[in-house]
Amino acid sequence: MSDKIKVILDCDTGSDDAVAICTALLSPEKLDVLGICTVNGNRPVPNTTENTLRVKDLLGSDVPVIRGCYCPMVKSLDPRREVLETAHSAKGEDGKEITYHAEYLDCLPPSHSKPLPMHAVTWLIDTLMNSEEKITVVPVGPLTNIAMALRLEPRIAEHIEQFVIMGGGHLERNSTAAAEFNIWVDPEAAQIVFESGVKIVLMPLDATHRAYLTPEDSKYFRSLGTKLGDFIAQEIDDRVEAYNLLQPLHIPDIAPMHDALCVAYLLDPSVITDIRHVRVDVDFSGGLCDGETVVDTRLIPPVKPKNCYLCMNTDSDKFASMLRDILSRAKN
Ligand code: RIB
Ligand code: CA
Repeated sequence: MSDKIKVILDCDTGSDDAVAICTALLSPEKLDVLGICTVNGNRPVPNTTENTLRVKDLLGSDVPVIRGCYCPMVKSLDPRREVLETAHSAKGEDGKEITYHAEYLDCLPPSHSKPLPMHAVTWLIDTLMNSEEKITVVPVGPLTNIAMALRLEPRIAEHIEQFVIMGGGHLERNSTAAAEFNIWVDPEAAQIVFESGVKIVLMPLDATHRAYLTPEDSKYFRSLGTKLGDFIAQEIDDRVEAYNLLQPLHIPDIAPMHDALCVAYLLDPSVITDIRHVRVDVDFSGGLCDGETVVDTRLIPPVKPKNCYLCMNTDSDKFASMLRDILSRAKN
């Protein structure tokens, strides 16, 4: 039995998803990435799938990419629940779209590889149910694929080592005053996952806003003279511009790489400096707090069992240093 961690990524690629995928695929000494599922989120699933394939091609990887769900489980049935309060994009002075996530990762060539000819939910169930070793599942987009798989075949929970999820916010939010994007897009899916009984390491915005790269890092990656270095530099530059304009954070001129923190944690858990075992539930009542991750911080016996290891702070320097080291391994 290999001592590598068997991993399935579930992504809505997405600029920071792309950085997470690169970090995972460039860490073969520790991670055995079995597949990358794609889901609706930052962009529609045809786009998130094409973007994932472009990253796969950039790295010359043979990892399978499997297309997943086109929409949330139930939320989009009620148009009143679609109120995104934080703009996802804006027009710059030159008319260029300023956004966290371009329609396509247009600094990469169109993909030449194809997704597997099956649905991600089917692939997840088949892969998990037929695996002799438990698998770590790393969802970094809305949890629709994962929840659908749990609903179709609850026994997959016995084959999952842990979830390492980018999602939620305890004191920090983004999509609305109450919610973080991945959870907000499909709150019901998130609650299904939170009730699965599988160990969950949850990376909310409280931690991922401190997992960032900077214009200095961008200069470093550009100096490498590799396609990957140029791609990472472009994603940093675009995200710094988008955050400065659309969602100023605790310090200016940073590019949070939310999803890559999940991979960094798998590689070195000490990148997280504050982790709490708590009960987390999701509000899916459709009101003001739709999609909120409600953290029970009361010092009383929890009414419901604690279900999440909630990561509340990050060693930002360690994170950036890990990504500089790992992402400079690519030779072209
Ligand atoms: O809120 C941040 C999360 O939403 C990240 O996963 C980003 O890629 C988007 O999916
Ligand atoms: Ca994502």
